[in-house]
Parts: sequence; structure tokens; C-alpha cells
Amino acid sequence: MTRTITVLPGDGIGPEVTESAVRVLKSIFKRFHHDVRFIEKRIGGAAIDQDGTPLPRETVEQCESSDAILLGAVGGPEWDKQSMDVRPEQGLLGIRKALGLFANLRPVKAFAPLIDASPLKRSYVEQVDFVIVRELTGGLYFGKPSERRGRNHEQVVDTLAYSKNEIERVVEKAFQFAEKRRKKLVSVDKANVLESSRMWREVVNEAAERHPEVEAGHMLVDSTAMQLIINPAQFDVIVTENMFGDILSDEASVIAGSLGMLPSASLRTDKVGLYEPVHGSAPDIAGQGKANPLAAILSGALLLRYSFDMDREAGLIEEAVQEVLERGYHTADLKISGSKAQSLSTTEMTDRVIDVIDEKCSVTEKKNR
Ligand code: IPM
Ligand code: MN
Repeated sequence: MTRTITVLPGDGIGPEVTESAVRVLKSIFKRFHHDVRFIEKRIGGAAIDQDGTPLPRETVEQCESSDAILLGAVGGPEWDKQSMDVRPEQGLLGIRKALGLFANLRPVKAFAPLIDASPLKRSYVEQVDFVIVRELTGGLYFGKPSERRGRNHEQVVDTLAYSKNEIERVVEKAFQFAEKRRKKLVSVDKANVLESSRMWREVVNEAAERHPEVEAGHMLVDSTAMQLIINPAQFDVIVTENMFGDILSDEASVIAGSLGMLPSASLRTDKVGLYEPVHGSAPDIAGQGKANPLAAILSGALLLRYSFDMDREAGLIEEAVQEVLERGYHTADLKISGSKAQSLSTTEMTDRVIDVIDEKCSVTEKKNR
């Protein structure tokens, strides 16, 4: 069986980091004799320049007929002056929506060698291992079409709308993840102010009855923002509305040492998924070989796990990343010191990860001989 991955490099550092992830995936597929083809398409600013739209139909069609999608990042100052409808970001929101990828999984883990790279105290960061499940195709980002960002001279409207079903499916997904983890779920909302949050709470309470083995609770989003800093180790699964999840996941990246470390998986009920780093296109460092490729590489690992059921291969990538960091290799975004610390370029970092994968595979091959 040949599987297909659509690669959407996008803008800024997107092309550099996706190239890294593709190289790592190719080395895995070669080692394990998996038949996978990669097809590249345009999205975001790159597509605006070439095709006049941030999400060409051809891109959507290719994604729809693929098993998984690997995306870099979109956006940059050159498109900031454009009107709303032709912004690069619409390409990203559009593809998430077109494919119905309603659950965005953002794991936050403190890799041991990076604990001191976090500005938070070591004791707060150790033991951190949680996932944010961000609702991705509704809420404040999408609103109702009729009212979508209506604007006249004196007034502007953004709508936070959800159907009960939209909340139910993402909450259900979050409970399923909690069941496979430490069985603790916190639903984050603003139920003291927003009606949508009050419905969100009801849905979570109903789901909690269906999943009695999961300890479920609620937390207000402002308080969660504080708890993430003062006691991040308390969390296992966090489930929340689209924009709350967007904001909290950037905050949470501080715990992992850098936004350059956080991967994400956008999922639906079948196996198709879109995988992308949580970070943006970082136009200020684009094309300079400074970008940290690890978030993209780790997104590739999530792709193997969730779309291809290749747990062993996914684990191998994650172990290789851990090992590379343990050897003191890092990119400019990671504040690491010590005698073995060595700052590498995007490509060098990728080479190191592939080297470690090769080392680990050769060791197993020898053992099995
Ligand atoms: C993210 C990004 C996007 C979002 C932007 C680029 C539209 O910040 O994936 O977190 O807000 O979802
Ligand atoms: Mn974001």
C-alpha cells in the first residue's frame, strides 16, 4: 500500500522546517521499508503570490485525497497590508475547516536537557507532561457566516458561536486521550461571563458521566493562564475553545523551553490528520538557517502515530530528539549552556537527528542478527 503525505511548506521558516521533517520521515520510511510518497502544494502567502489565493483549490483537492498533511507555517509582513480575505492565515484556517479537523492536539513536555532553557524554575518544569486539546474549526475564529467580522465605520463584530455537536465531538476526543493518559481532564472556559462556556460546561459534565474513570474538572481561562506558570505539572489533558487554546498553547511553550519545540496534530474522527509546528513563520529569521526544526520533526512523529499507526517509528523520532538534546546540540532559540553545549543550524540539527535514528536502528539490527 502506498500512502500519500501532502507537504504544505508555506511561508517564512515554514519551507526550512518542513524540509527537515520530510528528511527525517524519509529516513524512517527507508529504514522500515514503508512505501510513502510526498506531494508538495502551495498555501498561505506563497499561494497568494503565485495563485492569487491563500488556499488554491488544487491544494485542497490534494489534501482531501491524502492520508496525512504536513504543514510549515503561514504569514509574513509582506501580506499584512492585504485585506482580510486574502491574508495567508485564511489558507491555514481554510484547510483546517475544509478537512473538518476539529481537534488540535498540542502536547507540552519538558525534555530533561531543556529544563534549564525554560525561564521558569526547574522545580516547576520537571514532571510537566500534558496535552492541550484545542477546538479548531469553530468558536471565535469562525463565527456565523452572516455576521462574520461585520464592519462599518463605528462597529466591529466577532462571534463566538458553537453548536452543541461541535463541542461534544472535541470534548469526546479529549476524554479519549485522557483515558489513554493519566485520566485527568480540565476543561477551560470563561463560564462566569460567556454563554457559550456555560454550554461547554454542560457538555463536559455529560461526557464525564460517560467516562467515570476520568477525573474531570473545570477551570476559568484567566486562572488557567496563571496555573500554567505556577503549577504546570498538575495538568494532564486540557480541553478548550479555539482561541483560548491558541493563547494558552503559546504560553505553555515557555515551559518546554521554546516555541520551537512544540508539535501539533489536527485530527478528526478517522485517521486523516494535519501536522504542523505550533510556532509561526518567524519572518525575521527566515532563510538564515536559524530556525529550530524540532517542532516540525516532532510533528512528523505525531503524523506517524496518529495517521499511520506507526508507534514504534514515532517513538524512535522522539527518542532521537531527546538524545540529540542530551548530547548538548541545540538551535539559537534554546538557551542552553554548559561545556557540551553546541549551537547548530537548522540543517545541522536535522542531520544530528537522522544520525541518531541511524545509530539506534543499527544497534537493533545488530542485536537481531
Ligand atoms: C496557530 C497559529 C494560527 C492560529 C494562525 C497563524 C492563524 O497561531 O496555529 O496557533 O491562530 O490558529
Ligand atoms: Mn497560535
